[in-house]
Amino acid sequence: MSGDASTVHTDGIPPDALSKVQEYLEPFHLSVEKLREVSARLRKDLVRGLGKHSHHKAPVKMLPTFVRATPDGTEKGDFLALDLGGTNFRVLHVRVVEEEQKVLKMDSQICAIPKEMMLGPGVQLFDHIAACLNDFLVSQNLKGQTLPLGFTFSFPCEQKEIDKSILIRWTKGFNCSGVEGEDVVKLLKEAIHRRGDYDIGSVAMVNDTVGTMMSCGYRDQSCEIGMIIGTGTNACYMEEIKNVRRVEGEDGRMCINTEWGGFGDDGCLKDIRTEFDVVVDETSINPGIHNFEKMISGMYLGEIVRLLLVRLTENKLLFEGRTSEALLTPDAFETKFMSEIEERDGGLENTQNILTELGLKWDSVDSRIVRLVCNAVSSRSARLCGAALATLANRIRVNRRLDHLKTTVGVDGTVYKKHPNFSEELRATVRLLAPDCDITFLVSEDGSGKGAAMVTAVAQMGQSKL
Ligand code: GLC
Repeated sequence: MSGDASTVHTDGIPPDALSKVQEYLEPFHLSVEKLREVSARLRKDLVRGLGKHSHHKAPVKMLPTFVRATPDGTEKGDFLALDLGGTNFRVLHVRVVEEEQKVLKMDSQICAIPKEMMLGPGVQLFDHIAACLNDFLVSQNLKGQTLPLGFTFSFPCEQKEIDKSILIRWTKGFNCSGVEGEDVVKLLKEAIHRRGDYDIGSVAMVNDTVGTMMSCGYRDQSCEIGMIIGTGTNACYMEEIKNVRRVEGEDGRMCINTEWGGFGDDGCLKDIRTEFDVVVDETSINPGIHNFEKMISGMYLGEIVRLLLVRLTENKLLFEGRTSEALLTPDAFETKFMSEIEERDGGLENTQNILTELGLKWDSVDSRIVRLVCNAVSSRSARLCGAALATLANRIRVNRRLDHLKTTVGVDGTVYKKHPNFSEELRATVRLLAPDCDITFLVSEDGSGKGAAMVTAVAQMGQSKL
């Protein structure tokens, strides 16, 4: 399946060097059989996560979101949205216009979150968020109004209701003290009250996967899966309530935030983790947590490549055995380099510029080997994601007792959007592993902002219908 891509990438590498390099890359090439096994393991873990008694030990958390309906096109109103969890923190003013079935972003503001703050006390983080929101309200002349607010908080939360959401644990680059085990809505409201100069209306908590599904759902009502492949990776989907054992009810559906990044945290992916994955995990700020995510998402892919390049250099298969200070610096090889390197046209030239930037002395074979390495790592990521998505699609099909499922997936995240062959490879894997599912992929436009408004709107409509 990845045959085409890798043949292109092996051109120009002498056979002897190629076979030595491929020894290191072999563990990254997962056969279709292996991917099927991975999918079968995830299938079991979805059930464990949903179960009343198996849930607390389950690595894939399967969190109820209290989103019971996808948009029906009648939603409307003005909303504020906060987005925390990717590379930046954002505040937005969003308007949903019913007549045109449009979600309009009126304005937005980005606030940087310094790295120390991502690792400091939670109170400091929430005070910063409240301050950014204040600045935005002032600049938009919205300070007198109390608009409903959608908070896209892209971390695993145990949601008790749409406006009560307890952080289970931080993931990705965050690790603020005093937030795990606490209600995030309460922390936000306390920070706003500490200031005492403005207030907000009702709050809806949203994971970015849910925002993505909902923002695509406004355009295409068959969108029932949301997937992110960016800094982190995760997906949500509409599950039958009767299968969600921790929530009362027999009829209808609820969106489940799978938190599939945690897949493998019980050791079930040991056979496919490479020594490089182990190092990435051990040197991360949260060892042992989110193993699947660490093999797939943007925060880690570049580092896996860097570790491979260092190893190949030490074994004299690259750069005549000479590393550079940059190459030896953790995280210096950015994931975005992989997209540039693997570009069909101009990829080799990009590779050479990047290697020069990293202070390396390269020749043409070196640059081809580097491209091959990037391809092995990104390909594995796309195929693993494809296997996971196929598992969800198959589950929805079986849930509904259908021979054939036609559905739409809303997708967001820089890895999916920016990498030249990622989406193609992901789709090819899904076709192989879920042959009875016909999936349309819809790239979300700002699901974390507009989607949060959408969830808030649907939640409000739900209340007014009651
Ligand atoms: C991490 C978070 C998850 C989020 C994903 C994508 O896996 O735990 O909640 O959806 O990143 O941002």
